[in-house]
Amino acid sequence: MSKAIAGFSKLSKEEKINWIANEYFTNPADAIALLKKYWNSDESLQKLHDEFIENTITNFYLPLGVAPNFTINGREYTIPMAVEESSVVAAASKAAKFWAQRGGFKTVILGTEKIGQVHFLYKGDKEKLTSFFNTIKSKFFEETESITKNMQKRGGGILDIVLKDKTDSLDNYYQLHATFETKDSMGANFINSCLEQFSKTLKNEAQNNNAFTEEEKQIQVIMSILSNYVPNCVVRAEVSCPVADLSEGNGVDPVEFAEKFVTAVKIAEIEPFRAVTHNKGIMNGIDSVVVATGNDFRAIEAGVHAYAAKSGTYSSLSHAKIENDIFTFWMDIPLALGTVGGLTTLHPLVKLSLEMLGNPTAKELMQIIAVTGLAQNFAALRSLTTTGIQQGHMKMHLMNILNQLEATDSEKQQTVRHFEKNTVTHAAVVDFIKDLRKVTAKDLEKDFL
Ligand code: MEV
Repeated sequence: MSKAIAGFSKLSKEEKINWIANEYFTNPADAIALLKKYWNSDESLQKLHDEFIENTITNFYLPLGVAPNFTINGREYTIPMAVEESSVVAAASKAAKFWAQRGGFKTVILGTEKIGQVHFLYKGDKEKLTSFFNTIKSKFFEETESITKNMQKRGGGILDIVLKDKTDSLDNYYQLHATFETKDSMGANFINSCLEQFSKTLKNEAQNNNAFTEEEKQIQVIMSILSNYVPNCVVRAEVSCPVADLSEGNGVDPVEFAEKFVTAVKIAEIEPFRAVTHNKGIMNGIDSVVVATGNDFRAIEAGVHAYAAKSGTYSSLSHAKIENDIFTFWMDIPLALGTVGGLTTLHPLVKLSLEMLGNPTAKELMQIIAVTGLAQNFAALRSLTTTGIQQGHMKMHLMNILNQLEATDSEKQQTVRHFEKNTVTHAAVVDFIKDLRKVTAKDLEKDFL
């Protein structure tokens, strides 16, 4: 039977939930009860969340954790991270503490330029189009004045607009390629509004351009949209210390560690299969803070991975070297972020996260987020090149396994104590709980799976 429905968005929240529960669940009452369990008892707060998107039926929680002890350019931070992966916050905190004792993280902004494009088709003489563009270029700025006025007051605006000939790749295809400075806002609305006005100006002016033939006047705008690829909106984060200072007194030789670490990064630089996982580790840190600060993690992800492939081969975002017995580990990363507008003023926990970070400017937030990514990458590579990743991962994952087994507080305490000295594996935890409960592993597995 078809589950298609007309006018779903017009139903009340209660009606939507009832429809879903009855259509998709063997026990509708349980489904409804669960969805409602996640509603906030503060009605105005719930309404705020309901109105973020269409067809909200409930809230979907992510834990908000914090990683303390970050030192960035001499200033101390506790960094909020919204993430579900058990080891991420612990790894960031460990790396933060490690580097705080070795001079902390250093950062520098390499650029803040954003990009947007009007993609259009023009059938005609290229030189006429170029001369037309040069004649009307100032109009693009004039006719967007009402949009750019406030941004200009804040020191931002349209930086430049150039005409790009893309006809080598696609017949009749040209672009207005515009660059923007959007200061503390991510700038998506600002850029898209400017671009849509550019497109109107372009079409109107073409219609009135006597040098064009009738066909040339019919410029067809295909679309006007910002680019999430921002190779000139980049921040560098770095740590460095004498190789000997990498020692942690845990029996790991610092020279061997540093050399292995640098080789691990070199492998990610030349081997795309490894680079993707290496960069995924960086994004564990980046996305967690991006989400906690109300920024658009899909935009960040898209831009970062395009940047990682800018040479034509997907490669590591981070780099490492040993020179004159100094170990240096660094990363350049494109981050188009906002600390005003969007969710930043709407979501109470985003506001709280930003306040925890000292209400940073967008540039400061770029630096904080890049550092969290580098710290995460350092922690992952340190584990991978020494103990292996599973030891730490499984320790953190232990609580998830215990929760899936519906362990009581007392069982949890006993299990955590036991696995302080024993290797955590899925089967070992099941066996341990089985012994505690004196039931068969089979019974437990049934619940577990
Ligand atoms: C897991 O979420 C991230 C790592 O795989 C990153 C890496 O391999 O560098 C541990």
